Amino acid sequence: MDKLVIQGGSPLSGEVRVSGAKNAALPLMCASLLTGEPVRFSNLPRLKDVTTMLGLLARMGVQVSLDDRLGVELRAERVTEPLAPYDLVKTMRASILVLGPLLARCGEARVSLPGGCAIGLRPVDQHVKGLQQMGAEIRVDQGYIAARAGRLRGARIVADIVTVTGTENLMMAATLAHGTTVLENAAREPEVADLANCLNAMGARIRGAGTDVITIEGVDHLHGTAHAIMPDRIETGTFLAAAAATGGTIRLHGTDGKILDAVLDKLREAGAEVQVEPGVVSLAMRRRPKSVSLRTAPYPAFPTDMQAQFMALDAIAEGTGVITETIFENRFMHALELQRLGADIEISGNTAIVRGAPRLQGATVMATDLRASASLVIAGLVAEGETTVERIYHLDRGYESIEEKLSQLGARIRRVH
Ligand code: UD1
Repeated sequence: MDKLVIQGGSPLSGEVRVSGAKNAALPLMCASLLTGEPVRFSNLPRLKDVTTMLGLLARMGVQVSLDDRLGVELRAERVTEPLAPYDLVKTMRASILVLGPLLARCGEARVSLPGGCAIGLRPVDQHVKGLQQMGAEIRVDQGYIAARAGRLRGARIVADIVTVTGTENLMMAATLAHGTTVLENAAREPEVADLANCLNAMGARIRGAGTDVITIEGVDHLHGTAHAIMPDRIETGTFLAAAAATGGTIRLHGTDGKILDAVLDKLREAGAEVQVEPGVVSLAMRRRPKSVSLRTAPYPAFPTDMQAQFMALDAIAEGTGVITETIFENRFMHALELQRLGADIEISGNTAIVRGAPRLQGATVMATDLRASASLVIAGLVAEGETTVERIYHLDRGYESIEEKLSQLGARIRRVH
């Protein structure tokens, strides 16, 4: 298994290009199931999760042609097998995103339940409830969600909790339903709006994406289109947090500062100078960071996917930061590993109290999930001496060429096979 070996202590400095967003690419690729015509995506991030999704779609009969310029064309002329098997769903929970499109296009779907997940239970009851309200018959059979429907019917669906992939699944299903669907308490994440823009370019009639009420008038067919995947706000935030922690100066291009307000505010509070220009975000940190307290919540509040990286930042900051995680239970596994590097973190329920230490010491640590891995890399960049991050297959799921991009910014980091 690959590891990353990091010699800490160099401030990040320079420019790097941000990739397309993983959490936009995955639902967008699933949207191709809704039409027999080709859908072309540019700015596709080269990630393990993207490869897994392409494999899943190809298994269902979707023709996949990749080009070497971060583009892919997907053509679901015929869906031969509307099935997402356990071996794929267990590695990537976002596979649940095929459920809505398959049901709308084929009238049936079998999607494995995701099973246990390291960062919480993450049930899919809201996806199921919404589809049932649209007329689907759904049962759980041998660990699979088995769904059937004639043409789905528009419905008013009020989510009990805000769910990102749940909103996306129902929005995709509703595009081909008979009548109008209204999704209330919908997720407002920019990735939901990116998906709606692409669906509208395919002929869907969606209004309100990016707000908590989304209205979808069903149409009879969707057609092909070309769509550029939005930039990855979590990759952007991760590099900015890494630069802030190391006392660096960086400029990120191919990104969008407007979708990162909560994160940029916290970086400024930590003492960073942050500048936003069209397509570019720059950061300079000229002092030891100050601790920041934060609470994760659905967009536009502070994202849970940036919580671990800010815990690493607080670990070396001046003062004490209180971090509250409200989205996922059990999302503090990185705290134990950060402690191995010398961080002073006390966990009580869903709150972590982080007392900033003047320095961290390199050690061997183990990545436990995608964003936890990123926090360990940030801590390793700051720690004195050598840090080895094991099990980095989690990082490869969501960060494109992270060691190459960090090396480009002057970090001493290498991958060991
Ligand atoms: C998406 C993101 C993930 C991010 C998360 C929260 C993708 C591919 N992944 O995941 O990176 O961390 O949003 O911003 O976009 N829940 C239920 N029932 C449901 C669905 C969700 O109880 O039917 C709960 C979950 O257990 C969790 C919360 O709702 O506690 C939010 O989950 P959700 O927004 O659905 O996360 P994902 O869409 O899986």
